[in-house]
Amino acid sequence: MAKYQAIRGMHDVLPEATPAWQYLEQCAKDVLSNHGYQEIRMPILEMTELFERSIGASTDIVEKEMYTFNDRNGDSLTLRPEGTASCVRAGLEHGLFHNKTQRLWYSGPMFRHEKPQRGRLRQFHQIGVEAVGMAGPDIDAEVILMSAQLWRRLGLTDATLQLNSLGTPACRSRYRDQLVDYLQTHYQRLDEDSRRRLNSNPLRVLDSKNPDLHDLIEAAPKLDAYLDDESRDHFSQLCEILNDAGVAYVLNPRLVRGLDYYSKTVFEWTTDRLGAQGTLCAGGRYDGLVELFGGRPTPAVGFAMGLERLIAALEGCEASTVPQQSYCDVTLIAIGPAARRRSVVLADQLREALPQLRFIADFGSGNLKRQLKRAYDSNARLCLVMGEEELVAGRVNVRDLRHAELQTNLAFSELADHLRSVFAQGSV
Ligand code: HAM
Repeated sequence: MAKYQAIRGMHDVLPEATPAWQYLEQCAKDVLSNHGYQEIRMPILEMTELFERSIGASTDIVEKEMYTFNDRNGDSLTLRPEGTASCVRAGLEHGLFHNKTQRLWYSGPMFRHEKPQRGRLRQFHQIGVEAVGMAGPDIDAEVILMSAQLWRRLGLTDATLQLNSLGTPACRSRYRDQLVDYLQTHYQRLDEDSRRRLNSNPLRVLDSKNPDLHDLIEAAPKLDAYLDDESRDHFSQLCEILNDAGVAYVLNPRLVRGLDYYSKTVFEWTTDRLGAQGTLCAGGRYDGLVELFGGRPTPAVGFAMGLERLIAALEGCEASTVPQQSYCDVTLIAIGPAARRRSVVLADQLREALPQLRFIADFGSGNLKRQLKRAYDSNARLCLVMGEEELVAGRVNVRDLRHAELQTNLAFSELADHLRSVFAQGSV
């Protein structure tokens, strides 16, 4: 029979990897709630049009990466490729933005039919943040500083902040005209992709990874020359706050982002250690999106981080605070059918008495040696062993798996206190 496999670009996260994921998610939740951000959960499926209108019909995501299908009613639905559009849709639908500011976060899987490679998946996971209703550079700074705080907590020491301003739609459109003129004069040198983008989304030509176009792109007109006073002022104030906070950044005039909804500030946190897919976290301001979805003009800014890429970056990072976690504190081994039966109840009683303890009763097969091997593999600190003899005496052997010489024999009634004192010392 054919063996089933996960769909290409969609990965299982195995038990050995989940402690790092849980740690990352917990640190992120702590930092976000410290800053007053509240969780919102949106469906994974949305109407296709929601993404087409917000991300932009001529972006790579909408043109070629969405998982889109007709459901049984004939409606065109799409597995979300990102969270901002859904979050804004949800906020508008439930009146969250009406005369209010909102600080929101979400987490979960996103889907893009990209060519799978290291750091680029078809199902990947994001934690995203959206701050809605605040127009000033202070909130841009807050979301950026918040991400920097998370990196410090995780011990991620080599993330570089890249910053740019795309200006308002009006200045971007003036710039776009100049850029198209420039690219038209070099049409013969453009590759097929850039020629296509020249008509549909010329700013994206600047994003081309083709080395042959490098000098052409370098010499192209720069957006910052077209920024209006308001955008310029907003951006310089943001830079000043980041300077005051001591957060380093690189000004990158080529940073345009792959989604159409951005205006003014855009930013990315990158690392050199993950090859071509080095963007760990990215975002910016999107002041026009709420209005595009039929709401009142409402400023907003946010970002999303890719969890797979963050985990990979932390794996190679010396200062990482991700603990090498054991998944168990105590194991219980019983030898013989009567002891085995009694061990189920004993384990239950000990868990009730010490709810914070991670306690595994070994119900696997094999002799004492094999069970002990499993106890060592579980990384437990203590192993309780109960044979028929101990059962009759109402006692168990307690072994310290990290110090073989530390063995003791205790009555059932003494166990809870003993475990409490061992693990109270914080030596788990
Ligand atoms: P994005 O740049 O498309 O922005 O994605 C954000 C992050 O998700 C990327 O920096 C990367 O870490 C991760 N990511 C994206 N695609 C993949 C992939 N195929 N495989 C693995 N990781 C990936 C957004 O999604 C915006 N919604 C961010 C935002 C929120 N802007 C404002 N608010």
